[in-house]
Amino acid sequence: MAGNRTFTMIKPDAVRNGHIGDILAQMCKAGFRIVAMKYTKLSAEKAGEFYAVHKERPFYGELVEFMSSGPIVAAILEKDNAVADFRTLIGATNPAEAAPGTIRALYATSIGENAVHGADSDENALIEGNFHFAGTEMF
Ligand code: RTP
Ligand code: MG
Repeated sequence: MAGNRTFTMIKPDAVRNGHIGDILAQMCKAGFRIVAMKYTKLSAEKAGEFYAVHKERPFYGELVEFMSSGPIVAAILEKDNAVADFRTLIGATNPAEAAPGTIRALYATSIGENAVHGADSDENALIEGNFHFAGTEMF
């Protein structure tokens, strides 16, 4: 059965461009409940650890530099079928391919600086949520 929690980050580009409020409003309008949330900044070391799965990819260095370039909003969100529904809400990795009205179509600037992260499986949603939050910060 599909799980009911996902993990997201509003990335440094969207924070810099002033889109935190609009993006959170879209998430809430789509029926996601906030379980945990914080405004924080990843060190290069922490960003590298978070995206370690991409270590061998050519864009890894750029990704780590970008994700540690400014503050982010990290959150755990709850809804039925959370992981899949959230990925539908954010759209394709490359904003040029993202469906109209999706968060990346609206707010991303490029494939690298694409406004939001969404966990890609229930298992990773749990790992990523625990990476950012203690149990006492989840409600
Ligand atoms: P995310 O993990 O951030 O939600 O993104 P995703 O699943 O849609 O895409 P993924 O393949 O997991 O890639 C992670 C992030 O790496 C950057 N990226 N840059 N320059 C490039 O070709 C490239 N490809 C990926 C993006 O920031 C992407 O979201
Ligand atoms: Mg991914």
